[in-house]
Amino acid sequence: MSKITIAIDGYSSCGKSTLAKALAQKLNYNYIDTGAMYRAVTIYCLRNNIIKESVVDVPKLISSLKNIDVSFVYNTITKTSEVFLNGEHVEREIRTMEVANNVSAISSIKEVREKMVVLQREMGKNKGVIMDGRDIGSHVFPNAELKLFMTAEGDVRTQRRLDESRSKGERHSFEDVKRNLEKRDHDDTTRKENPLKQAEDAIVLDNTDISKEEQLTFVVKLINDLLLTRDEFNKPLAKH
Ligand code: DC
Repeated sequence: MSKITIAIDGYSSCGKSTLAKALAQKLNYNYIDTGAMYRAVTIYCLRNNIIKESVVDVPKLISSLKNIDVSFVYNTITKTSEVFLNGEHVEREIRTMEVANNVSAISSIKEVREKMVVLQREMGKNKGVIMDGRDIGSHVFPNAELKLFMTAEGDVRTQRRLDESRSKGERHSFEDVKRNLEKRDHDDTTRKENPLKQAEDAIVLDNTDISKEEQLTFVVKLINDLLLTRDEFNKPLAKH
């Protein structure tokens, strides 16, 4: 069967990457976590004093963009693509609260987004890709064959993010994590440059009450139905 592009957008911590990774393994597709790209740029900014106390030195950031390289390398053990900043593996560091608290400011800058979108389109140009983020179906791949828009109740998302950070040995309060998610959702939906919004042709997946397995089954069925219809439609007409 031919390969397609799958765009997964939605709010922070509603299971986009969990679903995307599972789908990528099942379909043998390439998974690209675009949030990780903005987080890697944020690490560069924190290390180079481009962002201090949540204030971004925008001219400095724009002139530094040429020095920022973000790439992915497939890890055969974790079976997923991991993010590198200028050749350094930063997959762990991108998940810290410090990065989470600063990433929305960095990802709202037009020039940063333009650079990331060029990279994302290049990575997805051969299809067979699942990309998750905020603007994938609405801007990066407006012609993606399947667009999902994921959501879940706020407290459920907070608890999931808290469990994830605890499993990595971090200690944060429920309230701190909730505040961070709410602020990021607000910043991501209200920013000027390609804000988070549901593409008109996206299928909404609210996973407040459904398990990871149920989500995977639901989406795999969607994809199979889509591919069957498409391949049937594209079949050459029988010769008489
Ligand atoms: O998916 P995530 O939580 O790792 O994303 C981190 C931040 O990056 C998020 O707050 C918004 C931003 N982002 C974005 O603006 N556009 C994307 N395509 C992906 C993420």
